Amino acid sequence: MSDRLIIFDTTLRDGEQSPGASMTREEKIRIAKQLEKLKVDVIEAGFAASSNGDFEAIKSIASVIKESTVCSLARANDKDIMRAGDALAPAERRRIHTFIATSPLHMEVKLRMTPDQVLEQAIKAVKLALQYTDDVEFSAEDGYRSELPFLAKVCEAVIKAGAKTINIPDTVGYAVPSLYGEFMRDLRTMTPNSDKAVWSVHCHNDLGMAVANSLAGVAIGGARQVECTINGLGERAGNCSLEEIVMAVKTRRDFFDLDVGIDTTQIVSASRLVSNITGFVVQPNKAIVGANAFAHASGIHQDGVLKARQTYEIMTAEDVGWSANKIVLGKLSGRNAFKQRLEALGIEMDSEQALNDTFQRFKDLADRKAEIFDEDIHALVSGDGVGG
Ligand code: KIV
Ligand code: ZN
Repeated sequence: MSDRLIIFDTTLRDGEQSPGASMTREEKIRIAKQLEKLKVDVIEAGFAASSNGDFEAIKSIASVIKESTVCSLARANDKDIMRAGDALAPAERRRIHTFIATSPLHMEVKLRMTPDQVLEQAIKAVKLALQYTDDVEFSAEDGYRSELPFLAKVCEAVIKAGAKTINIPDTVGYAVPSLYGEFMRDLRTMTPNSDKAVWSVHCHNDLGMAVANSLAGVAIGGARQVECTINGLGERAGNCSLEEIVMAVKTRRDFFDLDVGIDTTQIVSASRLVSNITGFVVQPNKAIVGANAFAHASGIHQDGVLKARQTYEIMTAEDVGWSANKIVLGKLSGRNAFKQRLEALGIEMDSEQALNDTFQRFKDLADRKAEIFDEDIHALVSGDGVGG
């Protein structure tokens, strides 16, 4: 029997930590509404204690979002947690996400705290957060570089204190898939009350493996929440990309056997909105949301796709919100693709010979011009020259 994978979107928090990606309150509200349309389970709307602007943005989002849970990040201290609780007060469903670092390096150098102090502070933070909501998530920052026995001790303690979700970030994108999956699996095994919490993965993309690591955390490690962002936006090289993780789990349901509540037809709109607001351009060959993700340029592929789309498509463009796939006419295109485009444009050829002649002229033009647009084809058949 399949179970459910919770999609936790952090575009408005970790995504905004991308240098140059800061957003106004109004822009954040627009994105939050689109995330709700996408049916994400949790929207991390910001980090309430980080600024008054973030506090107000979270409060506004908490007032307008009805379907998704609205969440605020908070360090494991009283001030941050109270601020998060206040910002989330208007929300129908609210979550406080509190964190503290657990790796030797972060504890010694950054926090200057002993492991026992970290443990104590984590427990205290969860207990205080529970005064504002029963939905408390705990993150062990730099979790993947932490020592397993200590990390398991912290996880067990915060579960006992009442945390419902335990998130193990690969904060610096150091993991590789099988090792991260096994780390999550071993950690759960070493945590006696592991079944009382949902385990979550949060992977950064420094080595380009955020999506692969997250999938391993799910498949091998048993995580049932993935933290991700639209277009993979995020600190440094970014976070796990929402569109890739969702479509991987959906397209390979045969392997993952998990339900995802996302309305995938809203993915492209979400991607465009985030790109337009942040000014971060989506690369053309980006999986799912890049302009070329469903474009076919080679003659062999075009011929195959025109006969049956599954020959070269593992999901449809329409599934993720594109209006159609794209046959790019150019020098690699074959006669079949050209003929179909003529038909689609309502252009009739009186004979096979006329079609062959026009196709030849199309090929000559394509040798000089990378992409042939519909206007070029109109120009070719009307004898006006080469257009474009
Ligand atoms: O990458 C990270 O460790 C984080 C935590 C604050 C969850 O973003
Ligand atoms: Zn992060």
